[in-house]
Amino acid sequence: MITSGQKSNRSQEPRSPRKILITGGAGFIGSNFVHHWHETYLSDRIVVLDALTYAGNLNNLKDLNGSSQFRFVQGDICDRPLLDQILAEESIDTIAHFAAESHVDRSILGPDAFVRTNVVGTFTLLESFRQHWLGRGKPKDDRFLHVSTDEVYGSLSENDLAFSETTPYAPNSPYSASKAGSDHLVRSYFHTYGMPTLITNCSNNYGPYHFPEKLVPLTCINILMGKPLPIYGDGQNIRDWLYVGDHCKAIDCVIHCAPPGETYNIGGNNEVKNIDLVAMLCDLMDELAIDLPVHPARQLITFVKDRPGHDHRYAIDATKIRTELGWTPSVTVDEGLRHTVQWYLTHPEWWQPLLSPAYQDYYKTVYA
Ligand code: NAD
Ligand code: TYD
Repeated sequence: MITSGQKSNRSQEPRSPRKILITGGAGFIGSNFVHHWHETYLSDRIVVLDALTYAGNLNNLKDLNGSSQFRFVQGDICDRPLLDQILAEESIDTIAHFAAESHVDRSILGPDAFVRTNVVGTFTLLESFRQHWLGRGKPKDDRFLHVSTDEVYGSLSENDLAFSETTPYAPNSPYSASKAGSDHLVRSYFHTYGMPTLITNCSNNYGPYHFPEKLVPLTCINILMGKPLPIYGDGQNIRDWLYVGDHCKAIDCVIHCAPPGETYNIGGNNEVKNIDLVAMLCDLMDELAIDLPVHPARQLITFVKDRPGHDHRYAIDATKIRTELGWTPSVTVDEGLRHTVQWYLTHPEWWQPLLSPAYQDYYKTVYA
């Protein structure tokens, strides 16, 4: 939903329902976005395409079962005939493209899947949508929004200014390099073909439905299980944290209000050192959880070998989206983390099945 204070073109003219394809809609941010869109735009058709990799989870979407406005398709964004079929069958006019391999540590262990899905998959989706858009006479309200990351800009030192939309790309991990490649392809489809593409580059998200390999959910779940909380290196690395619901509202705002061809940085202006973030989560768990196996939870903090090529600091300058489109985050990091901790405490049925033997094997490989 576009919150009060955000500029909206919908106040001047009635909004026509959209037929939106959400790729990666069974993942963390994608599923939050599906819920946001479904609750906000009751007349819209929502089609989710997701390969259901280890990170995709149909439980994230179970609230939508039975909705006549919603369809789930299990499939791969590299599968061109499938893409062509869905776009035609559903007369799709809007794509929100979340599908990706998203975890930096996994990209270090095995970059192949990252190049395949993030680069080749995005290219395949762009080509399919281009043919579909051309065939329908290039409708001016169509949109292809590509969801990307601030990691494409590389690493900042403590004294550098935050990333703006004109910061040169300098990706350092196979993950960020593959996202940078996909950003360039999306940009080229606007400049070469006039296709109505948009790119958003967002900082680290946290919130419900976050797969427990990322720092925030891993910390919450390990505290509940009394397991060590691994902090890479000295824990002084800085990330700029944004509550996932605010990210979803920003993407909504860009789809509805931004001119095609634009790029927007999205961030919460919440720079926190990793060690401080984990300490905050420990304190929240001490306060909110009953009968923790280890109390106070800070005793579980364990410094481990650093991630190779670990970027020191990310920080987003979100001036452009604030001044041009009127988006600002609505959730403070204190509120967002409290809500997130409460969500993991009250949803063990969501995260316990994810702690499978395969997950445990992966966990041992990374934290050996
Ligand atoms: P995620 O790993 O939780 O979800 C990715 C989803 O994509 C999964 O459901 C998975 O099954 C699906 N998928 C993977 N490969 C696919 C393929 N070949 N075809 C179809 N579906 C496939 O990721 P996330 O954290 O929700 O991130 C979503 C997007 O947002 C990504 O593009 C990521 O780069 C970007 N992003 C993430 C963050 C963050 O903090 N998590 C920040 C900024 C940008
Ligand atoms: P992560 O959640 O993997 O996101 P990203 O690498 O995309 O920023 O990691 C966030 C930060 O936390 C990053 O600096 C790496 C660090 N980290 C740890 O210290 N320990 C962990 O167990 C994990 C998963 C991450």
